[in-house]
Amino acid sequence: MSGKDIKKQGENKNELVKEAKQAKSIETKKADDKVEEKDKVEKETEKKKKAKKKRGIFGKYKKEKKKEKKKGEEEEEEKERVVYLEIQPEYEIVDEYWIQEPFAKVKIAKLPELGGQKVYFVEEAQLTPSEKKAVDKLIDILSVELNPPEGFEEDIRKHVIDEARRLAEKYKKAIKGVTEENWDKILYYIERDLLGYGPIDVMMRDFRLEDISCDGVNRAIHVWHREHESIPTNVIFVDKEYLREFIIKLAHMAGKHISAAFPIVDAMLPGRHRLAATYGEEVSPRGSTFTIRKFREKPLSIINLLESGNLDEWTAAYLWFMLENRVTLMVIGATAAGKTTLLNSLTSFFKPGFKVVTIEETPELNLPHENWVQLVSRESYGLGEAKVGEITLFDLVKVSLRYRPDYIIVGEIRGEEAFVLFQAMSTGHGGMSTMHADSLDRAVKRLVSPPMNVSPAYIPSLNIVVLTERTILPTGEFSRRIRRIWEIEDYGRYREIVRWNPTTDKHEIINDSYLIPRLAEFQGKAPEDVLEEIRRRQVVLTWMKFTEIRDMKDVSKIILEYYVSSQEVYLRAVQDLERLGVKVEKIGPRVVAVAQASPRSSRESQVFIRESTKPVVRHVVEKPVEEKPVKIVSEEPKVEEEVKGPSLQDKILVTLLKLGGESDYVSLINLLNVRKNEFSSVVRDLIRAKMIVPVITYVENRPTLGYKLTAEGDRRARELSK
Ligand SMILES: Nc1ncnc2c1ncn2[C@@H]1O[C@H](COP(=O)(O)OP(=O)(O)O)[C@@H](O)[C@H]1O
Ligand SMILES: [Mg+2]
Repeated sequence: MSGKDIKKQGENKNELVKEAKQAKSIETKKADDKVEEKDKVEKETEKKKKAKKKRGIFGKYKKEKKKEKKKGEEEEEEKERVVYLEIQPEYEIVDEYWIQEPFAKVKIAKLPELGGQKVYFVEEAQLTPSEKKAVDKLIDILSVELNPPEGFEEDIRKHVIDEARRLAEKYKKAIKGVTEENWDKILYYIERDLLGYGPIDVMMRDFRLEDISCDGVNRAIHVWHREHESIPTNVIFVDKEYLREFIIKLAHMAGKHISAAFPIVDAMLPGRHRLAATYGEEVSPRGSTFTIRKFREKPLSIINLLESGNLDEWTAAYLWFMLENRVTLMVIGATAAGKTTLLNSLTSFFKPGFKVVTIEETPELNLPHENWVQLVSRESYGLGEAKVGEITLFDLVKVSLRYRPDYIIVGEIRGEEAFVLFQAMSTGHGGMSTMHADSLDRAVKRLVSPPMNVSPAYIPSLNIVVLTERTILPTGEFSRRIRRIWEIEDYGRYREIVRWNPTTDKHEIINDSYLIPRLAEFQGKAPEDVLEEIRRRQVVLTWMKFTEIRDMKDVSKIILEYYVSSQEVYLRAVQDLERLGVKVEKIGPRVVAVAQASPRSSRESQVFIRESTKPVVRHVVEKPVEEKPVKIVSEEPKVEEEVKGPSLQDKILVTLLKLGGESDYVSLINLLNVRKNEFSSVVRDLIRAKMIVPVITYVENRPTLGYKLTAEGDRRARELSK
């Protein structure tokens, strides 16, 4: 992702600056406000004050303090790292909900001083200074004394909690302020900071948020809320250094590395959230930035999209027919326009027998399909010129042809992989992809220029282009809409079929299809038959919408049933709809103005849709066809040669060095081929000798326990491997 993409859509920049200033000014106003607060007996503040009195749950300001020990000095300097603005009595609260009762709550409030602008407030249980100390201390101790769990399968979260309790008990004397009453609150923070996302943990756990972004220090973190859209939050990173550390941690959680030398990261966080980040001032003058696009557990189905009006039933049925016939398609639009989501939902239209290969940099697609090979590109491990172990999208598209796919799906095309994809499409493979472009012209221009370099002659091997947008509806709300759909006749000749009408919020058919007569011909049917087939599918989709069959799995099941016995499913749909009082005879295309059709022969048509015919040109097919999804994810580099050094201690150090200084314990045990007991005791010795430290590390995006070389351990390991 380019630096430009990472920058949040540029809204509210001024507000951000204003807020940051307010952060300071409100702070000075703090004392006065306290007096004022008493007068205003709003329910909300009253409740809050009670809580505050009782347990000190919500404090006025919560600041994360950093202790900085200066050399030779005993005294500790406290520095603000993150500021949480507090709700003022005059704010109007429009929404509130718990994220974790009773420790974390979200409130959405309108701020009069920002002209009624909504702000997302994170409110967490407040720690007293001694509790805060206890949390910090426990986290420190945990990162030195965390023992490996007993079994391999143990839940890391439970393990950390158990260990925290054990260590709190063990160091009872040194850690003050821990009681039975506040233990849960202390655990909340330990989990939040050690296993979770620290200051943005609440936002990460709020499923209503679509993305979270930080544009640098002293600016409010912004979120995209499903109900309240793009709004600033009350959370502000105020320490450059801490923000930098935080971004290193994020990158680390995604299994990536970020530094001055590699200042940009685009990766997948645990839970499949997509992270884009920049480090320091290298590429982002205002300091480190990050954007997290949150993953939906349940992918949006085509019915979900119909329900929110992203497209209409006829358009969906039209696309269904097209995809059944292995038509090639590309979704274009701006960042977060919903391209990937749309692409993913369309895959449920595939015929059950289709073989599908997906190719992505960060695995976002989540297909309902059985016959799915998922390929994920891999970055190089090496530094500098030598790109050791790198596997690019380009490589993967080439490889994918060996699977003889009915559809090759490239998650997002950006570079030379476009060229191979178009080659594949022009030889009869089905292809789908998304591309960042806000118009068809620009999309084509990008395609035919470097680095994509698709020859204009290949452009018509792309059959359909769909433009999707995040747009304003007649009601004034924001939503996503398929704006336009074109069929490509030839390079420079595009026929717009569907257009969204922004005043009526309806999708309209504005031209006769170029593809339908050609597809009909291939099937030995009349175009009218195809239109009738599309209408029947429109009925089935309308029925699913009315009967709330919207889960991706359920939707795919019905589509599969339709492929098997269309008449039965259609009749069931008609009966149900009539029972529900829907006039089935009214379901049909919404045609606005159909321009002159051009019924020419299909000489220049590049559609490859033969029912049972395989692609004309096949690329080397030596391998037996893979039936099961194969996942290629970044693998740890293998330690091949026998590790030198007699003792297990040394072997662990050297292995860690080879693995880049850090590894999870399961990999270590497997690589070294040792027993777990033996391993644990040696590891403890190494920790005591300050050669390694335990860390929470991530394997395939799941947190687990790992070990990391200390500076001393690193030195020793290097010596040993000489
Ligand atoms: N039609 C939709 N309705 C609701 N949320 C959507 C819709 N389409 C996308 N989203 C959400 O918006 C975010 C961005 O969508 P995505 O498809 O990844 O965009 P793009 O690929 O265009 O960058 C995701 O969090 C996704 O869940
Ligand atoms: Mg995308």
